[in-house]
This record gives sequence, C-alpha cells and structure tokens, in this order.
Amino acid sequence: MYSEKVMDHFQNPRNVGELENPSGVGTVGNAKCGDIMRIYLDIDENQVIRDCKFKTFGCGAAVATSSMATELVKGKTIQEALQVTNKAVMEALDGLPPVKVHCSLLAEEAIHAALWDYAEKNGIQIQGLSKPKSDIHEGEEEEEEEY
Ligand code: FES
Repeated sequence: MYSEKVMDHFQNPRNVGELENPSGVGTVGNAKCGDIMRIYLDIDENQVIRDCKFKTFGCGAAVATSSMATELVKGKTIQEALQVTNKAVMEALDGLPPVKVHCSLLAEEAIHAALWDYAEKNGIQIQGLSKPKSDIHEGEEEEEEEY
C-alpha cells in the first residue's frame, strides 16, 4: 500500500523537532481528520532556508510527507520553497494511496503558514504567497474545508 520511501520517511522521519528563535513558524490543522502540524523555518538574510524542523500530531502519511517536505525546502530560496507543493512531495515519495492525499496538504500548508509568519515579522511581501487559511498558531478556530 505504501511505497518504500513513504515507509522509510515514516519510520525514520528527518528534521523532527523545534528550532530556537525560528524566522517563521506555521501551525495548521487538517479539517478532514483533525491532525495538526507545526513547521519551523530558519531563513538567512538572502532569503534562503537554512534549516527546517517539524512536529506533528498526525498520521503516518503526514509524518512521511512532512519529513520529505522539510528535506525538499532546506537550502532553497523562499520562492523555490513555494514550488514544493504537496504534489511535488508525493512524487518525491513515489506516491500515496488516494485516501491519504489530504494528509500531504498539511506540510505544504504549514510551510506556507511559516513563510507567512516570516513575512509578517519582517514586514515584507512574498510574491505568490497568500494568507494561510488554517494557521491555528494564534489559537484561532480553523475553518471547515473540503479538499
Ligand atoms: Fe490526518 Fe493523515 S489522517 S493527516
């Protein structure tokens, strides 16, 4: 059911944890299952993602996709990181079963929310990035979304 890469990233997830003094933090909830993901980004003065960590209260597919997503955005510029969609992450993992596709959205949304947080903190605008719809970092209620 799961590819070898998914199993590997699930059993040995990369970049689990937190960052001290992160440049941006994004926390999102998955409306379908209630799982939660938080991503920490360390971004340098050239807008390159130096480091990235995640924590999740979520299923195995969410762990695997977040692990892969953090690997993919590390070392990338903000603009390049925006191209790391859930589709790109799934492809890098050799696919996910259809019922688990929604899980892969958590990582993408959490990265976007963390980038949004970074932009707000620094008073800048990131082209192509819109306000995250389900950032629950400030304790806001998440909205029901259909995927
Ligand atoms: Fe909730 Fe996968 S079932 S993220």
